[in-house]
Amino acid sequence: MLSSRMEQALNDQVNAELYSAYLYLAMAAYFSEQNLEGFTHWMNMQSQEELTHAMKFYAFINERGGRNTLKTIEAPPATWDSPTAVFQAVLEHEQKVTSLINGLVDMALAEKDHATNIFLQWFVTEQVEEEASVNAVLQKLKLLGGDSGGMFMIDRELAARNSACPCAQPTP
Ligand code: FEO
Repeated sequence: MLSSRMEQALNDQVNAELYSAYLYLAMAAYFSEQNLEGFTHWMNMQSQEELTHAMKFYAFINERGGRNTLKTIEAPPATWDSPTAVFQAVLEHEQKVTSLINGLVDMALAEKDHATNIFLQWFVTEQVEEEASVNAVLQKLKLLGGDSGGMFMIDRELAARNSACPCAQPTP
């Protein structure tokens, strides 16, 4: 059984993951407007992944006999200054999510809630991968400094991203 404090914190994380999905969908729309199809595809995949994260938390709350409490999802920004600014914002957002996950682990350890702690370990590993993959794209964008030939190459590279999520549809 989850403590009410942990139940609340896990519900907050469902909201944070849904916000992440919403944020990345807004970024996909931004890239789509600029006809950057690979960037759009990558961001759509990222958004789909966040939905699967939200559903993992949602299902875990249920499995532990907790109550799912859905809250308002904040509206994300609609525009950014450049593709580099977008990826900078993604990195900062993922760093924030990492600190949220770490906070949940701290809470689980303090409560000696071993089941939640084990559940969270997948997310601890996932955050390392997420930050690394986002940072890799960001560093390439910074190196290019907006060079159009380089942008075309990165766009093609990002178009090749696959998702482990069977719910994800390829972007045309
Ligand atoms: Fe669900 Fe990108 O953290």
